[in-house]
Amino acid sequence: MEPQLIAELRAIVGASRVLVDPRECEPFGRDWTTFWQARPGAVVLPGSTDQVQQVVQLANRRRLAIVPSGGRTGLSGGAMACNGELVLALDRMDRIIDVDPVAETLTCQAGAITRTVQEEAARHNLMYPVDFASSGSSRIGGNIATNAGGIKVIRYGDTRHWVRGLKVVTGAGEQLDLNRGLVKNNSGYDLRHLFIASEGTLGIICEATLALTRPPRGLGVMVLSVADFAALPEVLHRFKAALTLTAFEFFSHRAMAAVTERTGNGSPFADETPFYALVEFERGGDADERDALAAFEDCVADHGVRDGVLAQSQTQAANLWALRENITESLSPRAPYKSDLSVPIAAMPAFVRDIEALMANRFAGLEVVWFGHLGDGNIHLNVLKPDDWTTDRFAGVCASLGQSVAERVEAFGGSISAEHGIGLLKKDTLHFSRSPGEIELMKQIKRIFDPEGIMNPGKIFD
Ligand code: MLT
Ligand code: ZN
Repeated sequence: MEPQLIAELRAIVGASRVLVDPRECEPFGRDWTTFWQARPGAVVLPGSTDQVQQVVQLANRRRLAIVPSGGRTGLSGGAMACNGELVLALDRMDRIIDVDPVAETLTCQAGAITRTVQEEAARHNLMYPVDFASSGSSRIGGNIATNAGGIKVIRYGDTRHWVRGLKVVTGAGEQLDLNRGLVKNNSGYDLRHLFIASEGTLGIICEATLALTRPPRGLGVMVLSVADFAALPEVLHRFKAALTLTAFEFFSHRAMAAVTERTGNGSPFADETPFYALVEFERGGDADERDALAAFEDCVADHGVRDGVLAQSQTQAANLWALRENITESLSPRAPYKSDLSVPIAAMPAFVRDIEALMANRFAGLEVVWFGHLGDGNIHLNVLKPDDWTTDRFAGVCASLGQSVAERVEAFGGSISAEHGIGLLKKDTLHFSRSPGEIELMKQIKRIFDPEGIMNPGKIFD
């Protein structure tokens, strides 16, 4: 990047807050995806919203592309800087600004780590309920920019449900205070929601006011072994009827085997079955546990459940959750192609059968690992890279696989992205889930917020 530009950036944020050494810059220019090479031109680490604004205004004057960067845990390439862009990293803007226990809100800078937000809420006997395996590294701004989902969506909804207000700097360099943290505000278009899931293409989220809630009195956790994926929607139905569920996750035996191999902890079951379900429910007292056991017995009798384990302590509950939460990390050495799909819950078994047939017919030999958030209709299709394939060869095959899967998703009335976003990974298949009219409107909206087209160019659409 041009020395004069670097000098101007340094004048805004301080000399040490602009990185130019490619080795230092590289980790800031990538996320958890493996198909692309990060090649950022420089990294800037602002410490305040005003500094973000000055950087964006400078980038407008110089027509400089910016890639916003949070926890860099994304799975769709939304935070990849592959073309010499300026990475604007929110790492230093990680402060909790305020907790209001009466309004039940927490205000923080966008770089606050999700787990820090959860812990701060807990200190006030409140809860920020959006949760996922990457909570220890992901940052709130990135969660909002991708409308992150996670493991509790069945009970609490995704990130969008918890955003009361946002302070943003638009791509044009203007500061906006969107919704001011209010519960009720019927004064026209709610621009806050445009920034949620905008993947950094409209501007930079600098500060957020998040709604909090009261934590449940207790939680029960069970893992069930299931003979056939087709049984799972009915098992979900039975448990939903009996209890207040906070999670209903599933994973295949291959997924569990990857975790047990990596962690060294054994399976809780003597016998292997193709699928397992993790059920978490609110446990106010013994009656809830009795209801859970009754639902379990019913499912053993009628709905294909073979065995089950009910956690008897918090440690056991954590160990059961670890079977699900460690899947991503356990698969990562195999550099998987990851696809987060949603289809109506009732259609999930037929969809999985359909994709299995597609894989067998057209992509034979590639290993598939299924897991996901069954309670939300959200399936994670992971395809493992054969060890002797190059990344380029694998990425090429996966591009074609992605097209075929997206066609099937459309046929089943689903969405090509349930929670990870579009980024670079899915922009070629966006038209399977959004109409030409919708895509054109999205482009027009981007032009309004980002007239010079400097904000995360090439993400979501070209
Ligand atoms: C998950 O459900 O564990 C996350 O979405 C991450 C992943 O899909 O690997
Ligand atoms: Zn997920």
